[in-house]
Amino acid sequence: MKSFWKKLWSQPDSKWLLGIPIGGFLFLAAGAAALATFNFSLHATNTNEFCVGCHIGMDTVVEEYRVSKHYSNEYGIVATCADCHVPQDFIGKMKTKISSGIKDVYKKYWVKDINLANFDQEHRLRLARHVWEAMDKQGSKTCQSCHNPEKWNLQAQPGRARNNHNPEMWAEKGVSCVDCHTGVAHKKPFR
Ligand code: HEC
Ligand code: HEC
Ligand code: HEC
Ligand code: HEC
Repeated sequence: MKSFWKKLWSQPDSKWLLGIPIGGFLFLAAGAAALATFNFSLHATNTNEFCVGCHIGMDTVVEEYRVSKHYSNEYGIVATCADCHVPQDFIGKMKTKISSGIKDVYKKYWVKDINLANFDQEHRLRLARHVWEAMDKQGSKTCQSCHNPEKWNLQAQPGRARNNHNPEMWAEKGVSCVDCHTGVAHKKPFR
């Protein structure tokens, strides 16, 4: 047995193998496979199918989203669940996936406290507050992957929007998109 492991890491005799130990090849192959799996999982858990599969039947956010302008509009641009709820930067993405991933699976399959009958009255506001808090922390950055305030044509916006779309004023007041815009993809919760 010992000689097997030794052989794995010793230089091969044949020069066709470039003197690289077999173990080196195996090590690289395992690394590449792990990386591919990791990338695949990151991608697969960002699709609407993934989110919808769990939320439909438990609450009503999916149905509300599907009649919102962020799902169906004249431009054919679809904002996915993850576009708004999962940060794009690597650290933010990993944090969101790990923390809410563990909690959501636990709540869905063990606690099972949310259902269609009690969602609106007993859970929506609590969960919405959780989202607002997370959005405040990241300055509603996920919204800005599509709505970039630096590229806004303010003149084309109605007066009420123009007067309020002032990032300097937002910084002074400590507000971001979701402080003024609620219910953009789901029924508006009462605050
Ligand atoms: C395993 C099932 C499951 C999957 C998959 C899932 N969710 Fe959830 N989600 C839940 C449960 C359960 C809750 C309620 C958590 C609670 O009560 O605190 C929840 C809560 C939420 C909330 C409310 C705020 C919060 O942080 O708790 C948001 C937003 C959310 N999910 C978005 C998503 C998005 C986006 C996806 C896809 C990337 C997704 N969910 C995939 C089960 C799931
Ligand atoms: C994937 C791109 C995308 C993302 C992400 C996105 N939006 Fe939008 N949003 C759009 C498009 C496209 C429209 C235009 C829909 C229309 O007018 O028909 C729109 C319209 C709007 C409107 C006006 C229509 C309405 O529903 O009131 C508001 C307000 C808005 N978005 C706010 C937000 C906020 C807040 C966020 C973050 C929570 C966000 N958007 C994230 C693409 C996006
Ligand atoms: C200080 C409050 C405030 C903040 C912060 C704010 N908005 Fe608005 N926004 C408004 C108001 C008010 C309107 C006009 C709504 C109306 O007339 O119904 C508006 C309108 C809009 C519209 C529709 C514009 C149109 O042409 O009709 C979009 C899209 C929008 N906001 C996106 C955003 C996004 C994305 C952010 C963050 C980057 C943001 N807003 C931050 C107050 C705000
Ligand atoms: C355009 C951005 C946007 C999209 C797309 C979006 N959400 Fe949300 N979501 C929000 C915001 C902002 C809130 C905070 C409450 C509010 O203002 O409506 C929220 C709240 C929630 C909540 C808490 C309960 C509630 O009603 O407030 C859940 C659960 C949720 N979203 C899940 C999802 C799922 C699942 C999808 C895809 C089917 C999705 N969201 C798509 C922006 C979005």
